[in-house]
Amino acid sequence: MSKLAILASHGGSILQTVVDACEAGTLAAEVVLVISNNSDSHALARARDHGIKTLHLSASTHPEPELLDRAIRCAFDQANVDWVVLAGYMKRLGKETLSAYPHRIINTHPALLPKYGGKGYFGRSVHQAVMDAGDTESGATVHFVTGDYDTGPIVSQVRVPVKPQDTVESLEERVKTAERKLIVSSLTELVGCKEAAGY
Ligand code: GRF
Repeated sequence: MSKLAILASHGGSILQTVVDACEAGTLAAEVVLVISNNSDSHALARARDHGIKTLHLSASTHPEPELLDRAIRCAFDQANVDWVVLAGYMKRLGKETLSAYPHRIINTHPALLPKYGGKGYFGRSVHQAVMDAGDTESGATVHFVTGDYDTGPIVSQVRVPVKPQDTVESLEERVKTAERKLIVSSLTELVGCKEAAGY
């Protein structure tokens, strides 16, 4: 059974979807660790409710960026994680962690990358930008994580329409509904590939 770590900063609804899929057996994996940079995040509370090990690791627990990077990498090592999911995690991972887990860390983003990605594109600002540009479709992207925000090889995407009567909130909800299915299907594929290849 593949072991997952999830990093999240705020609400944790994507985290919740992954935990539920694991518990329901639709995803052959177990969430063994949740890390947040925000000690008050709902994401941590959700994980605790499910008996999942949680850690608050941030610039307040580790003011030196290199030591924070090491702490995150060591937490993954100790939990023997196979895959890491960034689900609304608002920080960049450090070099040590990235190089210790090549092609093992994925991020989910609420837009059709490479459009509307990078610094400043998070939460509702993404959907506002899509609407301001007059786009008729948006979507979500799951991609492998590199050193920069929202870059790295794309694993999968899903498209949704932008409707004339949409508000930022209604578009966000449509994208998030699709994004929840996308993260589970992406993980199912990645976990399945790993098991089939026997590594
Ligand atoms: C998701 O839309 C994700 O793509 C983005 O942040 C959002 C997280 O939402 N990076 P939640 O905290 O899981 O509700």
